[in-house]
Amino acid sequence: MFILIDQEFISRGLSTTNLVPKIVAYETLDSTNEEAKRCISSGECENLLIIAESQTKGRGRYDRQWISPEGGLYFSLVLRPHFGLESAPLYNMLCACAVTTAIQSFGINAHVKWPNDILIFEDKVAGILSELLTEDPEDILLVLGVGVNLNTTRTDFPENLRDHLTTLADHLNKQIPREELLVKIIKSIDQWLTAIDVEKSFSSVLKDWKKKSATLGNKVRIIDGAKSVIGIARDILDDGSLVLSVEGEADDIIFRAGDVTHLRQD
Ligand code: BTN
Repeated sequence: MFILIDQEFISRGLSTTNLVPKIVAYETLDSTNEEAKRCISSGECENLLIIAESQTKGRGRYDRQWISPEGGLYFSLVLRPHFGLESAPLYNMLCACAVTTAIQSFGINAHVKWPNDILIFEDKVAGILSELLTEDPEDILLVLGVGVNLNTTRTDFPENLRDHLTTLADHLNKQIPREELLVKIIKSIDQWLTAIDVEKSFSSVLKDWKKKSATLGNKVRIIDGAKSVIGIARDILDDGSLVLSVEGEADDIIFRAGDVTHLRQD
Protein backbone atom coordinates (compact mmCIF):
# COMPACT_ATOMS: atom_id res chain seq x y z
CA MET A 1 0.00 0.00 0.00
CA PHE A 2 1.13 3.50 -0.79
CA ILE A 3 2.08 5.56 2.30
CA LEU A 4 2.86 9.26 2.05
CA ILE A 5 5.97 10.47 3.87
CA ASP A 6 5.43 11.13 7.60
CA GLN A 7 5.55 14.92 7.89
CA GLU A 8 5.08 14.82 11.68
CA PHE A 9 8.23 12.72 12.05
CA ILE A 10 10.15 15.17 9.85
CA SER A 11 8.92 18.25 11.74
CA ARG A 12 9.80 16.64 15.09
CA GLY A 13 13.22 15.66 13.76
CA LEU A 14 13.90 19.19 12.61
CA SER A 15 12.70 20.87 15.79
CA THR A 16 16.28 21.63 16.86
CA THR A 17 17.49 23.04 13.54
CA ASN A 18 17.84 26.71 12.57
CA LEU A 19 16.40 25.77 9.23
CA VAL A 20 12.66 25.30 9.74
CA PRO A 21 11.30 24.48 6.33
CA LYS A 22 7.66 24.45 5.35
CA ILE A 23 7.15 20.86 4.19
CA VAL A 24 4.97 20.03 1.21
CA ALA A 25 4.70 16.33 0.28
CA TYR A 26 3.24 14.88 -2.91
CA GLU A 27 2.54 11.35 -4.05
CA THR A 28 3.94 12.14 -7.47
CA LEU A 29 5.28 15.20 -9.26
CA ASP A 30 6.92 15.88 -12.60
CA SER A 31 9.97 17.11 -10.71
CA THR A 32 10.36 18.56 -7.21
CA ASN A 33 12.69 21.23 -8.67
CA GLU A 34 9.97 22.25 -11.15
CA GLU A 35 7.40 22.37 -8.35
CA ALA A 36 9.80 24.51 -6.28
CA LYS A 37 10.12 26.93 -9.19
CA ARG A 38 6.33 27.05 -9.62
CA CYS A 39 5.97 27.83 -5.89
CA ILE A 40 8.57 30.57 -6.16
CA SER A 41 6.85 32.17 -9.12
CA SER A 42 3.58 32.16 -7.18
CA GLY A 43 5.22 34.05 -4.33
CA GLU A 44 6.48 31.30 -2.00
CA CYS A 45 9.96 32.02 -0.80
CA GLU A 46 12.83 30.38 1.03
CA ASN A 47 12.72 27.51 3.52
CA LEU A 48 10.42 25.41 1.45
CA LEU A 49 10.91 21.64 1.36
CA ILE A 50 9.13 19.84 -1.45
CA ILE A 51 9.07 16.06 -1.37
CA ALA A 52 7.68 13.55 -3.88
CA GLU A 53 7.31 9.79 -3.57
CA SER A 54 8.06 9.50 -7.29
CA GLN A 55 8.77 11.81 -10.21
CA THR A 56 7.64 11.46 -13.80
CA LYS A 57 10.20 13.92 -15.20
CA GLY A 58 13.01 13.87 -12.66
CA ARG A 59 15.96 15.81 -14.01
CA GLY A 60 19.68 15.45 -13.47
CA ARG A 61 22.67 17.54 -14.42
CA TYR A 62 23.24 18.19 -18.12
CA ASP A 63 19.52 17.71 -18.77
CA ARG A 64 19.79 14.00 -18.10
CA GLN A 65 16.81 12.08 -16.84
CA TRP A 66 16.77 11.17 -13.15
CA ILE A 67 14.76 7.95 -12.99
CA SER A 68 12.60 8.32 -9.89
CA PRO A 69 10.59 5.20 -9.01
CA GLU A 70 8.67 4.93 -5.74
CA GLY A 71 11.04 3.97 -2.90
CA GLY A 72 13.63 6.65 -3.63
CA LEU A 73 14.03 9.95 -1.79
CA TYR A 74 13.38 12.98 -3.98
CA PHE A 75 13.23 16.48 -2.58
CA SER A 76 14.00 20.12 -3.27
CA LEU A 77 14.95 22.63 -0.61
CA VAL A 78 14.59 26.33 -1.38
CA LEU A 79 17.09 28.57 0.38
CA ARG A 80 18.06 32.21 0.23
CA PRO A 81 21.87 31.95 0.12
CA HIS A 82 23.85 34.33 2.29
CA PHE A 83 26.76 34.33 -0.18
CA GLY A 84 26.65 35.65 -3.77
CA LEU A 85 25.89 34.02 -7.09
CA GLU A 86 29.46 32.84 -7.59
CA SER A 87 29.24 30.59 -4.52
CA ALA A 88 26.51 28.40 -6.05
CA PRO A 89 28.97 25.51 -6.71
CA LEU A 90 30.04 25.67 -3.07
CA TYR A 91 26.44 25.25 -1.90
CA ASN A 92 26.26 22.15 -4.10
CA MET A 93 29.38 20.79 -2.46
CA LEU A 94 27.93 21.61 0.97
CA CYS A 95 24.83 19.65 0.07
CA ALA A 96 26.94 16.74 -1.25
CA CYS A 97 28.81 16.63 2.07
CA ALA A 98 25.51 16.62 3.98
CA VAL A 99 24.04 13.78 1.90
CA THR A 100 27.28 11.77 2.20
CA THR A 101 27.43 12.25 5.99
CA ALA A 102 23.81 11.09 6.29
CA ILE A 103 24.48 8.00 4.16
CA GLN A 104 27.70 7.22 6.05
CA SER A 105 25.74 7.31 9.32
CA PHE A 106 24.12 4.02 8.23
CA GLY A 107 27.57 2.42 8.09
CA ILE A 108 27.97 2.79 4.33
CA ASN A 109 31.28 3.83 2.84
CA ALA A 110 30.02 6.63 0.57
CA HIS A 111 32.21 9.22 -1.16
CA VAL A 112 31.79 12.31 -3.29
CA LYS A 113 32.76 12.61 -6.93
CA TRP A 114 33.47 16.13 -8.12
CA PRO A 115 31.49 18.24 -8.02
CA ASN A 116 28.51 16.71 -6.27
CA ASP A 117 27.76 13.08 -7.07
CA ILE A 118 27.59 10.60 -4.23
CA LEU A 119 29.10 7.19 -4.90
CA ILE A 120 29.36 3.86 -3.16
CA PHE A 121 32.55 2.45 -4.61
CA GLU A 122 32.17 3.67 -8.21
CA ASP A 123 28.39 3.40 -8.40
CA LYS A 124 26.18 6.46 -8.10
CA VAL A 125 23.73 6.39 -5.20
CA ALA A 126 22.68 10.05 -5.06
CA GLY A 127 22.90 13.27 -7.02
CA ILE A 128 22.19 16.96 -6.63
CA LEU A 129 20.70 19.37 -9.13
CA SER A 130 20.82 22.92 -7.93
CA GLU A 131 19.22 25.83 -9.71
CA LEU A 132 19.61 29.52 -9.00
CA LEU A 133 16.69 31.82 -9.51
CA THR A 134 17.31 35.51 -9.65
CA GLU A 135 15.98 38.62 -11.26
CA ASP A 136 18.07 40.81 -9.04
CA PRO A 137 21.66 39.76 -8.05
CA GLU A 138 20.87 40.97 -4.52
CA ASP A 139 17.89 38.65 -4.21
CA ILE A 140 18.81 35.09 -5.10
CA LEU A 141 16.92 31.89 -4.37
CA LEU A 142 18.65 28.55 -4.56
CA VAL A 143 16.77 25.32 -5.26
CA LEU A 144 18.78 22.33 -4.02
CA GLY A 145 17.28 19.21 -5.60
CA VAL A 146 18.42 15.93 -4.08
CA GLY A 147 17.74 12.42 -5.33
CA VAL A 148 18.81 9.32 -3.39
CA ASN A 149 18.40 5.74 -4.62
CA LEU A 150 17.08 4.49 -1.32
CA ASN A 151 14.59 1.64 -0.99
CA THR A 152 14.76 0.65 -4.63
CA THR A 153 16.96 -1.98 -6.23
CA ARG A 154 19.06 -1.89 -9.40
CA THR A 155 16.36 -3.79 -11.31
CA ASP A 156 13.94 -0.88 -10.80
CA PHE A 157 16.09 1.07 -13.29
CA PRO A 158 16.56 0.71 -17.05
CA GLU A 159 19.12 -1.92 -17.99
CA ASN A 160 21.56 0.54 -19.55
CA LEU A 161 21.90 2.40 -16.23
CA ARG A 162 22.19 -0.56 -13.88
CA ASP A 163 25.95 -0.98 -14.16
CA HIS A 164 26.63 2.54 -12.95
CA LEU A 165 24.19 2.97 -10.11
CA THR A 166 23.41 1.45 -6.77
CA THR A 167 20.85 1.83 -4.00
CA LEU A 168 21.13 1.94 -0.21
CA ALA A 169 18.77 -1.02 0.15
CA ASP A 170 21.03 -3.10 -2.12
CA HIS A 171 23.93 -2.38 0.21
CA LEU A 172 22.16 -2.73 3.54
CA ASN A 173 19.83 -5.59 2.61
CA LYS A 174 17.10 -3.70 4.41
CA GLN A 175 14.97 -0.62 3.92
CA ILE A 176 15.58 2.71 5.63
CA PRO A 177 12.58 4.96 6.33
CA ARG A 178 12.77 7.94 3.94
CA GLU A 179 11.95 10.30 6.82
CA GLU A 180 14.99 9.14 8.79
CA LEU A 181 17.42 9.79 5.94
CA LEU A 182 15.75 13.09 5.04
CA VAL A 183 15.98 14.42 8.62
CA LYS A 184 19.67 13.47 8.76
CA ILE A 185 20.37 15.26 5.48
CA ILE A 186 18.50 18.45 6.44
CA LYS A 187 20.14 18.50 9.90
CA SER A 188 23.54 18.23 8.27
CA ILE A 189 22.72 20.98 5.74
CA ASP A 190 21.57 23.11 8.68
CA GLN A 191 24.86 22.57 10.54
CA TRP A 192 26.88 23.48 7.46
CA LEU A 193 24.81 26.60 6.80
CA THR A 194 25.48 27.71 10.38
CA ALA A 195 29.20 26.95 9.99
CA ILE A 196 29.61 29.00 6.79
CA ASP A 197 27.75 31.93 8.38
CA VAL A 198 29.97 31.83 11.48
CA GLU A 199 33.21 31.34 9.52
CA LYS A 200 32.11 33.63 6.70
CA SER A 201 33.65 31.14 4.29
CA PHE A 202 33.22 27.64 2.93
CA SER A 203 36.64 26.50 4.15
CA SER A 204 35.29 23.82 6.53
CA VAL A 205 32.93 22.58 3.82
CA LEU A 206 35.84 22.24 1.39
CA LYS A 207 37.94 20.48 4.02
CA ASP A 208 35.15 17.98 4.62
CA TRP A 209 34.52 17.60 0.88
CA LYS A 210 38.22 16.78 0.32
CA LYS A 211 38.08 14.21 3.13
CA LYS A 212 35.08 12.55 1.48
CA SER A 213 36.47 12.81 -2.05
CA ALA A 214 36.78 9.83 -4.38
CA THR A 215 38.11 12.14 -7.10
CA LEU A 216 41.27 13.73 -5.70
CA GLY A 217 44.42 11.80 -6.60
CA ASN A 218 42.55 9.87 -9.28
CA LYS A 219 43.05 9.75 -13.00
CA VAL A 220 39.92 11.34 -14.48
CA ARG A 221 38.36 12.39 -17.75
CA ILE A 222 36.53 15.69 -17.57
CA ILE A 223 34.18 16.93 -20.26
CA ASP A 224 33.24 20.57 -20.23
CA GLY A 225 31.32 21.53 -23.36
CA ALA A 226 33.47 20.63 -26.36
CA LYS A 227 36.54 20.20 -24.17
CA SER A 228 37.54 16.69 -23.02
CA VAL A 229 40.70 16.35 -20.94
CA ILE A 230 42.35 13.43 -19.15
CA GLY A 231 44.58 14.12 -16.17
CA ILE A 232 45.16 13.63 -12.47
CA ALA A 233 42.76 15.46 -10.16
CA ARG A 234 45.14 17.34 -7.88
CA ASP A 235 43.16 19.79 -5.79
CA ILE A 236 40.04 21.82 -5.22
CA LEU A 237 40.34 25.62 -5.13
CA ASP A 238 38.50 27.90 -2.72
CA ASP A 239 35.74 28.49 -5.27
CA GLY A 240 35.20 24.72 -5.70
CA SER A 241 37.07 24.47 -9.03
CA LEU A 242 38.93 21.26 -9.85
CA VAL A 243 42.67 21.42 -10.59
CA LEU A 244 43.88 18.88 -13.12
CA SER A 245 47.49 18.12 -13.99
CA VAL A 246 47.79 16.87 -17.53
CA GLU A 247 50.71 14.98 -19.03
CA GLY A 248 52.66 17.17 -21.41
CA GLU A 249 51.12 20.41 -20.08
CA ALA A 250 53.38 22.69 -18.08
CA ASP A 251 50.49 24.30 -16.22
CA ASP A 252 47.60 22.72 -14.38
CA ILE A 253 44.18 23.14 -15.95
CA ILE A 254 41.38 24.53 -13.81
CA PHE A 255 37.75 23.50 -14.34
CA ARG A 256 34.90 25.42 -12.77
CA ALA A 257 32.33 22.97 -14.14
CA GLY A 258 32.32 19.66 -15.99
CA ASP A 259 31.34 16.04 -16.05
CA VAL A 260 33.95 13.76 -14.47
CA THR A 261 34.59 10.07 -15.08
CA HIS A 262 37.03 8.25 -12.80
CA LEU A 263 39.49 6.22 -14.87
CA ARG A 264 41.63 3.32 -13.83
CA GLN A 265 45.25 4.24 -13.14
CA ASP A 266 47.65 2.66 -15.68
C1 BTN B 1 22.41 14.46 -11.02
O1 BTN B 1 23.17 13.72 -10.42
O2 BTN B 1 22.49 14.57 -12.24
C2 BTN B 1 21.42 15.26 -10.24
C3 BTN B 1 20.20 14.46 -9.89
C4 BTN B 1 19.21 15.25 -9.07
C5 BTN B 1 17.88 14.54 -8.91
C6 BTN B 1 16.99 15.28 -7.97
S1 BTN B 1 15.58 14.33 -7.52
C7 BTN B 1 14.86 15.72 -6.76
C8 BTN B 1 15.12 16.89 -7.66
N1 BTN B 1 14.13 16.96 -8.71
C9 BTN B 1 14.63 16.75 -9.92
O3 BTN B 1 13.99 16.74 -10.99
N2 BTN B 1 15.95 16.53 -9.83
C10 BTN B 1 16.41 16.60 -8.47
